[in-house]
Amino acid sequence: MRTTIAEIKQMKQRQEKIPMLTAYDYVTAMMVDEAGVPLILVGDSLGMVMLGYESTIPVTMEDMIHHTKAVVRGAKKALVVGDMPFMTYHISHSGSLSNATRFIQEAGAQAVKLEGGEVVAEQVRRLVSCGIPVMGHIGLTPQSIHQLGGFKAQGKVTQDARRLLNEARILEQAGAFAIVLECTPAPLSRLITERLTIPTIGIGAGPGCDGQVQVISDILGLYTDFVPKHARRYASLAAEIKNAVAGYMSDVSSLAFPTTEQSYTMDEDIIRQLESES
Ligand code: KIV
Repeated sequence: MRTTIAEIKQMKQRQEKIPMLTAYDYVTAMMVDEAGVPLILVGDSLGMVMLGYESTIPVTMEDMIHHTKAVVRGAKKALVVGDMPFMTYHISHSGSLSNATRFIQEAGAQAVKLEGGEVVAEQVRRLVSCGIPVMGHIGLTPQSIHQLGGFKAQGKVTQDARRLLNEARILEQAGAFAIVLECTPAPLSRLITERLTIPTIGIGAGPGCDGQVQVISDILGLYTDFVPKHARRYASLAAEIKNAVAGYMSDVSSLAFPTTEQSYTMDEDIIRQLESES
């Protein structure tokens, strides 16, 4: 059985921490799922770590649907959340609804995520009332990077901290089932977490959140161009992959690969006959 929204909410009530990871393809989703992670985010961070863009802004609905389908095929138990890309939920209510519907109906996700607070509250309310579970996302919202002026912590001054607390409440009232807090100071994240009945999932938001989310490439050491302050590396896969590729190249050059073990045989008479014909 797949993890449900109710089970995620119960984890907060039981004070059980909620681990969440991103995944962007079938194989990774399968491994994350088999490890028992209950929530998988197909983040628009795929624009940077999978597609090589400088930000998440160029990511399209087509990119997201393509990757979400693959993740859903790989994850049999986790609840899969599809990240709505830049400007796919701002322009009109009907546009937001039809884009969110594609994540659920076409890609097979169980929920969508939207960045923003008060400005997206009405969209959240409409999606939830139509039966589409929504995860909110406030603090550092990468789709607003030009407005924010860079990847930096949010909510450090009184006015911003109060605004974030208020936006979290607004999203909860609008029906969001959980809220990502990105790069908010740990004491503020803890306060928001205490004030909400729905789970907070932090990324660079300290230990006081109900759960934590990380970009899979950061914890696996796969994407080394930029490693955020909030990431901890649990493996060095980029180095391992480069080593494996170097070993393969060296074996091909020295004829150590392939051997008879990796080759197919045939009846020797046939080959002798072909040789004699020329
Ligand atoms: O796109 C993403 O991976 C995200 C997480 C950083 C929360 O939104």
